[in-house]
Amino acid sequence: MIATARIVTERLALDPLVAHDADEMIRVLDDVRLHAFVGGRPLALAELRNRYARLFAGAPDSAEIWHNWVVRKRADGAAVGTVQATITVETDPHARVAWVIGVPWQRRGIATEAARALVEWLIANGIERVEACVHPDNLASVRVAQGVGMQPTDQQVDGEIVWARAR
Ligand SMILES: CC(C)(COP(=O)(O)OP(=O)(O)OC[C@H]1O[C@@H](n2cnc3c(N)ncnc32)[C@H](O)[C@@H]1OP(=O)(O)O)[C@@H](O)C(=O)NCCC(=O)NCCS
Repeated sequence: MIATARIVTERLALDPLVAHDADEMIRVLDDVRLHAFVGGRPLALAELRNRYARLFAGAPDSAEIWHNWVVRKRADGAAVGTVQATITVETDPHARVAWVIGVPWQRRGIATEAARALVEWLIANGIERVEACVHPDNLASVRVAQGVGMQPTDQQVDGEIVWARAR
């Protein structure tokens, strides 16, 4: 099993998420615009604390491994988003990744920089195939998927296109 490690890029640090990150992330995530394509609504602090506690505890099903990171700017340590990877443990392990960056920090290449480092970390750790589910109208996320070397497949999940990059 791969342990969630700190990943450092030129501008960013991806720090393994812990339950108390909710107290900082609530300000980053409290924006309905972040839900335009992914559904749902911003969580209240108590809900976010519960969610992060569950994420930190890990997947209840041994067929999956959950990895979650807070994306921080190295310059000042401020949290600006999260990235996650769900690894499905099979003969050929594969991962499904997702990304969210708070509105004030968008359009600065942060999601692409974080996602690229995440995908490279997964591949370096033996993952054969990395996937992301992206709504076809979510142009920013389409660009991130392209930017990390993924290509659209003919698979769809709940109206989203599965993008993939093989090892
Ligand atoms: C998707 C998301 C993470 C992108 O974050 P970001 O840090 O702004 O992304 P980047 O700055 O790396 O931009 C990636 C590309 O998208 C483009 N882009 C960013 N926002 C855009 C927008 N609203 N419309 C069109 N293109 C956009 C950028 O110009 C960039 O293009 P380039 O690669 O040609 O330079 C962010 O918009 C977000 O958190 N959205 C809400 C959550 C979400 O939808 N997550 C995706 C789930 S699959």
